[in-house]
Amino acid sequence: MELRSPLRLALFLFSAALVLNSASSLGINYGQIANNLPHPESVVPLVKSIGVRSVKLYDADPRVLKAFANSGVDFIVSLGNENLARMRDSKQALAWVKSNVQCYLPATKITFIAIGNEVLTLNDSALSANLLPAMESVHAALVSLNLDKQVAVTTAHNLAILDVSYPPSAGSFRRDLAPKLSCILDFHSKVGSPFLINAYPFFAYKSNPKQVQLDFVLFGPGSGIVDQGSGLHYDNMFHAQVDAAYAAMEKLGYKNVCLQISETGWPSKGDADEAGATPDNARQYNGNLMKLVAAKKGTPMRPNADLNVHVFALFNENQKTGPTSERNFGLFKPDGTPVYNLGFNTTGLGLGLVSGNSSVSDGGTASSGSDSSSDGYLAITANGAERLPLKGALSILCMAVSAVVAFHL
Ligand SMILES: *[C@@H]1O[C@H](CO)[C@@H](O)[C@H](O)[C@H]1NC(C)=O
Ligand SMILES: *[C@@H]1O[C@H](CO)[C@@H](O)[C@H](O)[C@H]1NC(C)=O
Ligand SMILES: *[C@@H]1O[C@H](CO)[C@@H](O)[C@H](O)[C@H]1NC(C)=O
Repeated sequence: MELRSPLRLALFLFSAALVLNSASSLGINYGQIANNLPHPESVVPLVKSIGVRSVKLYDADPRVLKAFANSGVDFIVSLGNENLARMRDSKQALAWVKSNVQCYLPATKITFIAIGNEVLTLNDSALSANLLPAMESVHAALVSLNLDKQVAVTTAHNLAILDVSYPPSAGSFRRDLAPKLSCILDFHSKVGSPFLINAYPFFAYKSNPKQVQLDFVLFGPGSGIVDQGSGLHYDNMFHAQVDAAYAAMEKLGYKNVCLQISETGWPSKGDADEAGATPDNARQYNGNLMKLVAAKKGTPMRPNADLNVHVFALFNENQKTGPTSERNFGLFKPDGTPVYNLGFNTTGLGLGLVSGNSSVSDGGTASSGSDSSSDGYLAITANGAERLPLKGALSILCMAVSAVVAFHL
């Protein structure tokens, strides 16, 4: 989408407002690897101003969970990789759930616990061996507290768990990870929780800007590609990445496990060797993605499954390591002003009046890797899911044929 005229700009702002008001299904990943973020109290109106219904944390920061009490915003809290080992002990899992989840319910509506982040692609066999036992242990704790119907257990994977991702129909998991993923998918199918992937067309473009068409990664109007295996047409890389994961799951026999995209996004700034990291590309990627999600259409392979997407991230995070792009995935600067114009009206929110100085939260695993950006994001969740009993809601989420809101620019 190009904004060439005032009319197009007006249409864009109008449609962005529609996305936010009508869908009301937006969530955001709130990473805090920074020393200049506003106090969580002043983030509440910011999150509300962009129509966010769900926030994902990389820890269970008490300041945030308290600030958002009775806000109507759903939460995904995370249990950091460093805590996986001790979760094997059922007493410790129970204690963790009590003091990081149960104590905030029901005022703060925690709906998911993400156990670890991108564990399997760290190639740390001891850590990987702890993942499923930790998930099971935390789930058992929820069951014993009678919370398992309102809080579900999951974990987010880097897309590098895929060995083949192109064409999408050929998608398959890394051979060495397939047995573990099979057990994890079995867990999801038993408890009714979604399988989460972090998917970044940006990294595909950055590593191969001469071959990958910018138009294809930014949801532009180009002609796209045809998957020779399925005959399906793809007009953007995001759909292709998601369908590759669907194909891989199906190959292991888990066609009915719900898939959600726990992170995706585009940086507004990067180093000289980071092609495509500009405010305008970030605006196009995130703006087009949000319209796509609001339209409630699935992917070419799963046209009837809602896309549940979490865009990365709420704020630029100044203490993240790695290339410049890692510190510039935010939709907002620490003072609450937009990094680029996505059509949000945040005027008059008074951000920054409550002084910042938030400490770096300990739960987020700083990702210094070039292919991982794991400390914050924007979640776009399906409408009304939280009002249904969890298992039912999740399967409905996967299967729902939703009303289509069309945005043509
Ligand atoms: C992990 O192992 C896989 C398969 O051996 C390899 O392709 C990948 O580069 C490794 N990743 C890291 C972060 O070491
Ligand atoms: C944005 O919000 C401010 C303060 O609430 C309001 O005065 C202004 O009219 C709004 N602007 C637009 C374009 O809606
Ligand atoms: C803010 O952080 C600085 C540096 O860590 C510290 O010296 C100062 O006391 C902090 N201010 C407040 C209000 O917490």
